[in-house]
Amino acid sequence: MADQQSDSGNEARQSFLARQLLLDTTKNAFQQLSGLLKNVSLYPASHPYLISLAEKMTVTIEGLLQGREDVTFYFVHGELFFEIHSVPIDENTALLMELFADRDIGGIAFKPGFTTEELIKLAILMSKEPAVLKEGNITEVLAGEEIFHIELHRSVVLIEKKSESKKTKEGEKKPEELFKDAIEAIKVIVQNAQLNKAINMRKMNMVIQSMVDSINDNRDALVGVTGVKMHDQHTLAHLVNTSILAMALASFLSFEKKQVIALGLAAILHDVGKVRVSSEIINKPDLLTPEEWESVERHPIEGALIISDIQGITKMAMVTAFEHHQHGGAHGYPQTDGTARQHLFSQIVSLADAYEVLTAVRVYYKAPMPSDEVIRALVKKRGSDFDATLVKAFINMIGIFPIGTLLKLSSGEIGLVVHQTSDLMRPRVLLLTKFDGSEKESGEEVSLLEMTAGKHKRDITGTIDSHTANINIKQYLE
Ligand SMILES: [Fe+2]
Ligand SMILES: [Fe+2]
Repeated sequence: MADQQSDSGNEARQSFLARQLLLDTTKNAFQQLSGLLKNVSLYPASHPYLISLAEKMTVTIEGLLQGREDVTFYFVHGELFFEIHSVPIDENTALLMELFADRDIGGIAFKPGFTTEELIKLAILMSKEPAVLKEGNITEVLAGEEIFHIELHRSVVLIEKKSESKKTKEGEKKPEELFKDAIEAIKVIVQNAQLNKAINMRKMNMVIQSMVDSINDNRDALVGVTGVKMHDQHTLAHLVNTSILAMALASFLSFEKKQVIALGLAAILHDVGKVRVSSEIINKPDLLTPEEWESVERHPIEGALIISDIQGITKMAMVTAFEHHQHGGAHGYPQTDGTARQHLFSQIVSLADAYEVLTAVRVYYKAPMPSDEVIRALVKKRGSDFDATLVKAFINMIGIFPIGTLLKLSSGEIGLVVHQTSDLMRPRVLLLTKFDGSEKESGEEVSLLEMTAGKHKRDITGTIDSHTANINIKQYLE
């Protein structure tokens, strides 16, 4: 099992690093293009400096072309995409994307065989009046300049009929339905654990598999459901939310599907040992006595024991339940000799668990912590309680302003975060005007990355607590 553990850890780390490397390379290519465009009006086309800039970019694109038929970038709502990845952009790249937008260009493709000369010719073309590329047949304009291995695509007009785009495929359940299914399935498991009855994981296996499909389809949608905290069933909701967050992080780290499923199952059972702690202690709002703490601290051991009796479940669920409060193995509970490193599954569940607790409205909290404070709390514990790479990946996934956060905007508008972008500080938002949920169908969705005249159209000036403002965000996320 030890080998299996380190294999899955290495695999996850490698796929994360490969993804980061790809994003860095694509970011690099755009910075190089931006440098080329800045200098094309300062130097003649044959100037060695200009040629050296174009050559550097050629090397980057040729690297990306390895194993690909072409290298295509898309510009959508102020965001830069390469394949399925949203590429982080800086100010220079944002200005470059504005140049493309002014010319009604929504994408650029580099084909094998393209040359440094073609790149310089493209830069010259881009430095001319926008009308040169905006009007007429773009392919003919490029051919006229003898550019044959670089293609420019017109802006992709994303006029999607909202009702159609939100429709789920035949037989597929919506995120909130999956959430309810998971609550029902875990309720039965917890009840059977309380009564010392045999636990059957069949239903839960099915729900977790559907959840993984849903995450692979649209991670933000299922993660968004975890932001809606249920007051009545918070103990069960905590298990489901932790599981969703853990699976979302694993999928973000490009884990294989079967690993994501195993992690989801382990995560949903992480606190099952709490059935053996009296509910008065679990729900006690005051400080616990040392004896009461001792009882609480036994829940990972009790959990591992309960799981060891479940037929056909992965051993990882037992390990995760036992280790989820061990914080790197050095401290936390249950106490061990500290030599064994916490398994990657336990580390992920630990992080998802902590995040879920911090964001939840619990008996212990009168109001949830603002999202940026939660992130700060996790960052503080990176390297001690939580693995630093995992914390970084988690924040990249969840954003500084998670789905469902209400934002005050510099335009005077109120935006509800509906998607993350490559910039953690600039998500995509739905502009709220009526606050009755109707904006979901008829409202405007904008990216805070959108720029005009070199400046962002909208900045975030603050967050709004939906409870205090009495805005029901649930109606927008379902
Ligand atoms: Fe726990
Ligand atoms: Fe927990």
